[in-house]
Amino acid sequence: MLSKRNPQLNRHGELIHLLSIEGLPKQVLTHILDTASTFLSVNDREVKKVPLLRGKSVFNLFFENSTRTRTTFEIAAKRLSADVINLDIAKSSASKGESLLDTIANLSAMHADMFVVRHSESGAPYLIAQHCAPHVHVVNAGDGRHAHPTQGLLDMYTIRHFKKDFSNLTVAVVGDIVHSRVARSDIHALTTLGVPEIRAVGPKTLVPGDLREMGVRVCHDMAEGVKDADVIIMLRLQNERMSGAMLPSAGEFFKNFGLTDDKLALAKPDAIVMHPGPINRGVEIDSAVADGAHSVILPQVTFGIAVRMAVMSIVAGNEA
Ligand code: CP
Repeated sequence: MLSKRNPQLNRHGELIHLLSIEGLPKQVLTHILDTASTFLSVNDREVKKVPLLRGKSVFNLFFENSTRTRTTFEIAAKRLSADVINLDIAKSSASKGESLLDTIANLSAMHADMFVVRHSESGAPYLIAQHCAPHVHVVNAGDGRHAHPTQGLLDMYTIRHFKKDFSNLTVAVVGDIVHSRVARSDIHALTTLGVPEIRAVGPKTLVPGDLREMGVRVCHDMAEGVKDADVIIMLRLQNERMSGAMLPSAGEFFKNFGLTDDKLALAKPDAIVMHPGPINRGVEIDSAVADGAHSVILPQVTFGIAVRMAVMSIVAGNEA
């Protein structure tokens, strides 16, 4: 049965779906990160498999494009020994007008155990979770501009890996925050994990002022935003979600908010630079920074496999 307070938790407070980081207790987030640590070594084994989801069917339903999330969910599910079915949405009956819930009902009739869902509509994974059978688990792989919880978790894993502890950090999230489900998930996770200074940095049109109510420091000046930061999370301009002109030009944005070596020099000397991808070089980040010594953008992707293994095994109740 879904909890009225938080539909991701059962009546015992156990995670049965992962829909959003918002509202999840610190111990749940920490448990996912700790479990991911135990899976990291699986990726280095000759036989990269554990039997935790053997006999289970995981359906990848990506109604929006993806490279990193879709592929790492597939790798993660296979490393847990699940059977993975990638629905080709363009060739599915969704393109003939079948409703989302009818598609889910039909896939459930094929004995699905887990749905990994990316959708352009905020709330689509919640709708599925409300309508599927109690033994079926739903993992949100990004819904509209609402949430991208596994990206938030792999970002937290990356920060913990390189910085060890959240309690003394200054984290700057830079760029198109208003359209970013990653920013929202990161900010909820950073807050829950006790990061004392979270900054949202970008032009007024792309940074919602109400973030201040969450204790986030809003900066419309890049130098102020990245000064003495331990972690800089750069975001892509989400042109596909912008209605009308929200920026003078991409060139102007890069001049003011693009991360270059000069701007990075204002952060702490051991600062790490993160980006959920896909990166747009010369728009939000200079190549010298993206490929430079401070960048942990590719380790983020690798950690994503272990984090997604952790999430899938935990929601399924099949932990090591
Ligand atoms: N970070 C992320 O969600 O990338 P993809 O769109 O490639 O999955």
